[in-house]
Amino acid sequence: RSDATTDYYQIEMQKNQVEILPGLTTEIWAYNSITPGPTIKQRRDRQSVVRFINNVGTPTSVHLHGMASLPQYDGYAEDLIPPGYYKNYIYPNNRAATMWYHDHAIHDTARNVYMGLAGMYIVQDDLELGLPLPKGEYDVPLVIQDKLFTNNGSFIFDHDNHQGLMGDVILVNGAPYPRMEVANRKYRFRVLNASNSRSYRLALSTGDDLIVIGTDGGLMSAPVRTKDLRIGMGERYELIVDFSKYSIGTQILLQNLGLPNNKDYDGTRQILRFDVVRQETDNSSIPSQLRSFQPLVASSAVATRRWTFEHRNDRWEINGNGWDKNRVDARIGLGNTEIWEIITNGRDWFHPVHFHLFDFQILERSSQPPLPYERGWKDVVYLGEDNNIRIIARFGPHNGKYMMHCHNTVHEDHDMMTQFEVG
Ligand code: C2O
Ligand code: CU
Ligand code: CU
Repeated sequence: RSDATTDYYQIEMQKNQVEILPGLTTEIWAYNSITPGPTIKQRRDRQSVVRFINNVGTPTSVHLHGMASLPQYDGYAEDLIPPGYYKNYIYPNNRAATMWYHDHAIHDTARNVYMGLAGMYIVQDDLELGLPLPKGEYDVPLVIQDKLFTNNGSFIFDHDNHQGLMGDVILVNGAPYPRMEVANRKYRFRVLNASNSRSYRLALSTGDDLIVIGTDGGLMSAPVRTKDLRIGMGERYELIVDFSKYSIGTQILLQNLGLPNNKDYDGTRQILRFDVVRQETDNSSIPSQLRSFQPLVASSAVATRRWTFEHRNDRWEINGNGWDKNRVDARIGLGNTEIWEIITNGRDWFHPVHFHLFDFQILERSSQPPLPYERGWKDVVYLGEDNNIRIIARFGPHNGKYMMHCHNTVHEDHDMMTQFEVG
């Protein structure tokens, strides 16, 4: 249903039985019976109201990751929809970007997302739609997740494992190691790492470049070419892959080259196989300028804060604390610009650090400039071992209490999450 300004959607959370591995049945917890859930596409100048109905039998909260929602619609972890109830979430669609909605229930996010409660949400504006980039069927979401299965096909989830959940089967859009038939032309891929604990270093088996055009916060100012791309949990990158130089019959793999501390190398190298099956004329192109980008300057910051992510006291902590809904760790004036330093002393894991509400820019990564493909708007920053990262942001667009946490959802649940307040 739609009216002049708003589109209305309804999504039911429920359990379902599906075939993921050939011949076996897997119970999933799903948005509208599939995982990933349905991709919602919206225009920037319209508002969405999404009614999430909870028939999954456990309390849930729905967060639209990437959207600057009002606090009451942000999927606050303690703001639960009880089983049998629904909640209408209002989304302003205030940025054009690749986002995703997922469960955020306090201490159960890892399980609920792992069981299937995640889906993509894409906002587009006139500027983006006016560019000659690949569109329609050539603009393809790729949701990457790793899973562990029992011999019977059930997902294995161990809530007592505090370290992280590393699967040995990679799913793309819910299917194990799929193959995708492509034409010999350019494609745009919106890649989301929706895994609990695994980061990926993506590369093509041909050694050809990936052309990065977008980050978490939407299109970059200009395309960036890279041979490999690191994507932490919660991050989104938009890529152009150009198949035009391959002849019909060529097979190209999208691979995971692996990262330190990822326990990677069993079964997790291949992600997706592209089969070039047909000839097509390609009217798309990659403009050298995409979206104008204003760098935030360090001298405009009115405060600097430091956040330390580490393993202590048998849990994961931020500045020596776990989650407490009654504690606020930073109060920031609406519209202020601040520099936040994000550090880890540990060599025990990496932490993709995510902030709700605001997008930021990375100033430095251990005294070096950020990676070329990180020079866009971000809402997750990959905090590697011993990294010291400086980000800058302008706080807004509205007041409220918002969460920040590690997007290793196992760390988040055990207890690497806190909150800040704007206003
Ligand atoms: Cu993608 Cu607070 O989450
Ligand atoms: Cu978020
Ligand atoms: Cu972590």
